[in-house]
Amino acid sequence: MKVGVPKETAAGETRVALVPEIVRKLTAKEFEVVVEAGAGEGSKLADAVYEEAGATISDEVWDADVVVKVAAPSDAEIGKLGQDTVLIGFLGPLSNPKTTQALADAGATAFAMEAIPRISRAQAMDALSSQSNVAGYKSVLLATNHLGRFLPMMMTAAGTVPPAKVLVLGAGVAGLQAIATARRLGAQVTGYDVRAAVAEQVRSLGAQFLELEAGQGAEGEGGYARELTDEEKRAQQQELADKISTFDVVITTALVPGRPAPRLVTAESVENMKAGSVIVDLAGETGGNCELTEPGETVVKHDVTIASPLNLPASMAEHSSMLYARNVASLLELLVDDEGALNLNFDDEIIAGACITRDGEIVHPGAKKTVEGEKPTVAEAAPKAEDPPAPEPEDDDEDEEDDA
Ligand code: NAI
Repeated sequence: MKVGVPKETAAGETRVALVPEIVRKLTAKEFEVVVEAGAGEGSKLADAVYEEAGATISDEVWDADVVVKVAAPSDAEIGKLGQDTVLIGFLGPLSNPKTTQALADAGATAFAMEAIPRISRAQAMDALSSQSNVAGYKSVLLATNHLGRFLPMMMTAAGTVPPAKVLVLGAGVAGLQAIATARRLGAQVTGYDVRAAVAEQVRSLGAQFLELEAGQGAEGEGGYARELTDEEKRAQQQELADKISTFDVVITTALVPGRPAPRLVTAESVENMKAGSVIVDLAGETGGNCELTEPGETVVKHDVTIASPLNLPASMAEHSSMLYARNVASLLELLVDDEGALNLNFDDEIIAGACITRDGEIVHPGAKKTVEGEKPTVAEAAPKAEDPPAPEPEDDDEDEEDDA
């Protein structure tokens, strides 16, 4: 089966859908891989390295059996898709209705990486998690860069410096990684989420869990959070406002699938923070968790830096691409038969779940409603999720040192 890897064209997209390590594995099997010249440039991967791994460098990538991408294709790219070519990428079934419609109009069979069910069997394909993990890690480094303070406690000849206090709002994949990273850097970390099940995971990372009355136990369908009622939202903002001012760094990662990002940090909360504090809002793509966030920008309001980067994984292209490529390769393996020929078994829940368009139809319920201008339910919007593996507990010895 022939796999095509185009050079990404979306602004700021540095990642690439396959890396040489994976090309080598695929070409050792029944796959033929064609890579567009310069596709790996943003991830520091030269064409020659792809060639060494067994790929062919050519512009003829769009008529392959399967085209693998990172970002959603432009209209021009959709126009280049071969008649029976299958497309894989972050297609934005809930944010990108025009692309969904264009793919259906083109008669394409398209699989969205973000729609792959988050079940045990599909864990190796979970690109939402692999990229959120990168974002969570990088958010802490970003916050640290903007902060005029140390994260760890420092005992120096000039005296002792207390550790920075970091609050992470939303403890899904990105939030848990932010908590773990801030802990490794020695900060005093507190995590918060409306899903009760998360408290234990937060604590196992050596952080405190912030207990609030409002929104407690707001588990929704399929393991995701539900949207809070207006009254719960107000109560939550109020309770959080009292806490936020005591932190040096607030990292926000709260999302509800198919809904605008919940507003957790009000303008007033920002105003009450200490001068020099930092907020990193990872929910900018769906409007932001902070009222003063300007998605894609870093602004200073009331002496507080508020950064809302839109594609953090692209800022760590080498590892983001590597992890994403592994996710894509796992999906590719599922799309072929024993002889390596394309074989789409729509009875398989992973294949059916990830498919957004097929034979001119929009087959993903959340994508369909989004195209029709309707609001999908959380279950229609989100990939089915099972409990993920528990995060690895932090080393106890390290904790003792920190606390000393
Ligand atoms: P997400 O990106 O949808 O949301 C991030 C976090 O924000 C979630 O923990 C959510 O509970 C929280 N949140 C939403 N509204 C909030 C509010 N008003 N206040 C505070 N926090 C709020 O979540 P993510 O990271 O995609 O994970 C979602 C689900 O997927 C979880 O149930 C997780 O257990 C599951 N999962 C399963 C995996 C598997 O392999 N089985 C892998 C990764 C995730």
